[in-house]
Amino acid sequence: MWEIATNFTEVLGAVLALLWGLAARRPGRVLVGLGLVAVVVQVVLVGLTWPTGWDYVSNRVVLALPLMLAPAVAVVVVSLPRLEPRWPIHAAAVGALLDFYVVFVDRPAPPYTVNVIVLWAILLGATGLLWWRQGRIRALPVLAVVVVVLGGAVFYLQRASVLPDRVDMASMTDLDWGGGPVGMGHEHAMRNVTDLTGPSERPDAAFTLVAQEKWITLSSGATVDAWTFNGQVPGPELRVHQGDLVQVTLVNQLKSEGVTVHWHGLDVPNAEDGVAGVTQDAVRPGGTYVYRFRATQAGSFWYHTHQDSYLAVDRGLFGPLTVLPPEAKGLDIPVMAHEWTTPQGVRTAFGASDTLRRVAVAPGTPVRLRLINTSDNTVWGAADKDPRTFVLTGTPFTVAAIDGADLVGPTPLTDVRLPMGVGGRYDLTFTMPDHPVRLTDLADPGGGLLLGDGPAPAVRSDLPDFDPAGYGAGVPSPFKSFDRRFKLILDDGPAFYDGSLSFPSTINNLLFPDTPMLMVRQGDAVETTFVNRGHNDHPMHLHGHHALVLSRNGVPVRSWWTDSLEILPGQTYTVAFRADNPGVWMDHCHNLKHAFQGMVMHLAYEGVHSPFQVGHKTINRPE
Ligand code: C2O
Ligand code: CU
Repeated sequence: MWEIATNFTEVLGAVLALLWGLAARRPGRVLVGLGLVAVVVQVVLVGLTWPTGWDYVSNRVVLALPLMLAPAVAVVVVSLPRLEPRWPIHAAAVGALLDFYVVFVDRPAPPYTVNVIVLWAILLGATGLLWWRQGRIRALPVLAVVVVVLGGAVFYLQRASVLPDRVDMASMTDLDWGGGPVGMGHEHAMRNVTDLTGPSERPDAAFTLVAQEKWITLSSGATVDAWTFNGQVPGPELRVHQGDLVQVTLVNQLKSEGVTVHWHGLDVPNAEDGVAGVTQDAVRPGGTYVYRFRATQAGSFWYHTHQDSYLAVDRGLFGPLTVLPPEAKGLDIPVMAHEWTTPQGVRTAFGASDTLRRVAVAPGTPVRLRLINTSDNTVWGAADKDPRTFVLTGTPFTVAAIDGADLVGPTPLTDVRLPMGVGGRYDLTFTMPDHPVRLTDLADPGGGLLLGDGPAPAVRSDLPDFDPAGYGAGVPSPFKSFDRRFKLILDDGPAFYDGSLSFPSTINNLLFPDTPMLMVRQGDAVETTFVNRGHNDHPMHLHGHHALVLSRNGVPVRSWWTDSLEILPGQTYTVAFRADNPGVWMDHCHNLKHAFQGMVMHLAYEGVHSPFQVGHKTINRPE
């Protein structure tokens, strides 16, 4: 409901501007009448979206509507019925243009003070001019002025959007202290990111990951010009036991591309987090790097490069990371859902298998499928707002864990679809029955994973969606009160990013490096609210921490711990985390195209400094 109405207000903004523009050019009863009707419809539409929440309408109510309504009232009071004088009609055209600008183009986020001042200065200035000229204004000079001003603005915005040569995390000035005590920032650093390393004792598990280029053949015969770890896609499973001290040596044998390894979902010490330009420099071709951390969380994780990740994760620089609890048993395997770009077209696959793959399992075996969604939905070509959806057929099952953290009191499920955001993990558990079980990605109902003997069960897609918000008993919240509260408005609109015009997704109407730096102190209880006011889904991923989901659209949920929270258009999520892992941490959308286009911010602990830089004159391009 909100989505339809709000999209309509965007279209209507343009219609409104057109109608009033025509009416101003050649005032006539019909055009003026239509303009007034459009104004009323716009007001009604905003009224309809109001119940979704103030955050979804505030920009329209505070900014757009008054700009449109005030001149419309002047038209009714001053110009009707003779359509003289004309200045109110012209002012209505200006107001309608500004309305369109606010609802579609600029999409400001609160506080709106500066926007209000600028927009009203434009409207009042234009109206004053029109009144003085009695609305008798020649079109050509007006057009010339508009073209010059707009052209100048576009030129300026394009230039200003080009990323600087060097962005230093410590130079970021827009610090958001979340309403808590304001500290000294991080230019007076007491600690450096590079000091926050993992333990140095002898490792319990040691691995080597070699990044190398290789043509890979998928099970269908389709070929991938892949970037691999150890010559395979996905990279090898790193399987360790809870409590192990893990050491991974990264070797970069790519021809010209830098690499890092990020441990998605593992809350490792900051220096081991593997983000180019934040926690290390990207490892150059020929270089090596050693990561060390203790795997204290049992669960399903994955690793991937965090250099050019939009491009490089898509091409294969990722793999599963499993931390087994002491009681692990039965068949326990990671399943990485990925879309491969091949000369034969985009292929939907589990791992490197894009056809139905059979695995023998004896009836009675306990099974845990660690389902991991590794593909940007902007790559696999569905509508940008659709999460990827899976179906498990042939047995009741439970979703035992989400994002590497066990749920409390999960109950058996049958006949549901499992929508998953990018980067997220669901652990699906069941006891193997005496007939086959099938896991399918609905993007390719012919493929998937088939466990056991016998004919493959048919796949249904007309099923209700699994919703973790109402599943299980919920994790009891350890949070009593909060030291800081952050609110982040997610939206999207036309804008320049790094010099090119596109439709990027924004955080508080900003793109990196202008996005706020969220500032915390060690030990803080932090509440964060995400409001998705835009058209796309955003799986938001905070590094180094797990957040407890508290509510959705103001309604408390059965809480679960998340590190990759899928937020759909029209959804507001409030989550909470404990600031217990000092460092500078990336917080971004895991639809990596969105991150690539600037949907990136950072969480920084007071007094921690990162010596690394991103930007055109550095090697580091984390997204
Ligand atoms: Cu899966 Cu910032 O990463
Ligand atoms: Cu996104």
